[in-house]
Amino acid sequence: MSAAAAITLDRVAKRFERGAAGDSELYAVRELSLSVGAGELVAILGPTGCGKSTTFNLIAGLIRPSSGSVRVMGHDPYDEFDWFRGKIGIVFQSDRLMPWRSALDNVALGLELNKCPREERRAIARAWLERLGLKGHADDFPHALSGGMRQRVGIARAFAVRPALLLCDEPFSGLDAVTGDALRREFVDLVRETGCTGIFITHSIEEALQLGRRILVFQRPARIVYEAVLDPDTSRDSRAEIRAEIRRALGGDGIP
Ligand SMILES: Nc1ncnc2c1ncn2[C@@H]1O[C@H](COP(=O)(O)OP(=O)(O)OP(=O)(O)O)[C@@H](O)[C@H]1O
Ligand SMILES: [Mg+2]
Repeated sequence: MSAAAAITLDRVAKRFERGAAGDSELYAVRELSLSVGAGELVAILGPTGCGKSTTFNLIAGLIRPSSGSVRVMGHDPYDEFDWFRGKIGIVFQSDRLMPWRSALDNVALGLELNKCPREERRAIARAWLERLGLKGHADDFPHALSGGMRQRVGIARAFAVRPALLLCDEPFSGLDAVTGDALRREFVDLVRETGCTGIFITHSIEEALQLGRRILVFQRPARIVYEAVLDPDTSRDSRAEIRAEIRRALGGDGIP
C-alpha cells in the first residue's frame, strides 16, 4: 500500500438482502482490495450488474461495507461523511439535478455548502457552464434542458468545487459523440490541471483507453480480473493488445 494512496479498499464485501422476506442474500462486492494513488486516473469496466456502482457508492461514502475497510484520503467515507464535503465531486449515471434550482444554482450548490460568498460562487458557476458549452442557459431550470445539457450541468457542478477526488459513474454515456469527445478532453485536462484523483466507471473500452491511466476490469461479484497501466506514450500496438485483453476479461459480452 503506497503512503500516497488516496483510496484504499481492504478485503471489502457488500452484501445485500434479497426477496421480500430478505431471506436470501447476494454479494455485490466480495474480497475486493484496491489501492489508488493520489493523482491517479482509474477507469473501471465490467459487465452490467458486476458491482461497479456498489463499489463507487462505497468509495463515495453513500453505503457502508458489510466487512473490510474503505479509506479515502485517510478517512472513513461513510462514518466521516461531513469531512468530505467539498473534497469529492460526484457525477452520477443520471444527472440528479435539483429541479427547483436553475442551472447556475445547481452548479453553485457545492460552493454554497462550502460557504463560498454568493457573488464568487455565481461567477465560478457561470465560468463552468461556459466551459461546458452552456453559455446562455445559466437561468434555465433542468426541465427546460435536454438530457445531454443536464448531464453537462451535473459535470460542471462536480468540477466547480475543484475536488481532490472526482468520482464519475458513466458521466459521458448520455451524450452525443462530439460533445462526449469534447468533454472527455476537458475531463483529462482538468484532472491534469488540478492533480485530483479520478475514478470513472464506463461501459466503453475506447473511453477507458482514452481516459484511464490505469484500467481495471471487474467481474461479478466486484473483483479485479484484469489490470492495465498506460500513458499517452503507450504505443498503438500496446493499446491494441490491451484492448484485446480487456475484451477477453469482459468475456465477450458485447461491450463496444
Ligand atoms: N440496494 C440494493 N439492494 C439489493 N441489491 C442491490 C442493491 N444495489 C445493487 N444491488 C445488486 O448488486 C449487484 C451489483 O449492482 P451494481 O449496481 O453495483 O452493478 P453495476 O456493475 O453498476 O451495473 P450497471 O453496469 O448495470 O450499472 C446487482 O445484482 C444488483 O441487483
Ligand atoms: Mg452501475
